[in-house]
Amino acid sequence: MRIDSKKLIQAASNARQGSVSPYSKFKVGAALLTQAGEIIGGANVESASYGLTCCAERIALFKALTEGKNNFIAVAVVARCEGGPMPCGACRQLLREYAPDAQVFIADSDDLKTIRKFTVKGLLPSAFVLVP
Ligand code: THU
Repeated sequence: MRIDSKKLIQAASNARQGSVSPYSKFKVGAALLTQAGEIIGGANVESASYGLTCCAERIALFKALTEGKNNFIAVAVVARCEGGPMPCGACRQLLREYAPDAQVFIADSDDLKTIRKFTVKGLLPSAFVLVP
């Protein structure tokens, strides 16, 4: 299946509108694409107990997984920063476990046409995995 990176970036941008980020004011949106062509969006949710904050990527992943969706072939992440936001280490680990073969598209919300492309495996080499 051909992956439409622009469409997935747009979905991440739309999901970003759902961000609940009263502390950092840094809105992040993510969107996962399944092999079946389904798109699942998510956005970051923050807590007054800062460490409980959950990133957009993990919200999207947890939504998808708990709705029985898997076989992810791509994930897009959008925020307002130069070049777009790179996933944090925790999200890389979860993506490596549940979306190991996915491509990763990153964009600045002010420039959705400039898409940087990575792979989940490339973003977390020598990862800790129990299931190969
Ligand atoms: N954040 C994400 O949602 N994804 C990332 O990849 C990096 C950081 C969120 C967490 C927090 O709500 C805000 O960005 C600032 O760190």
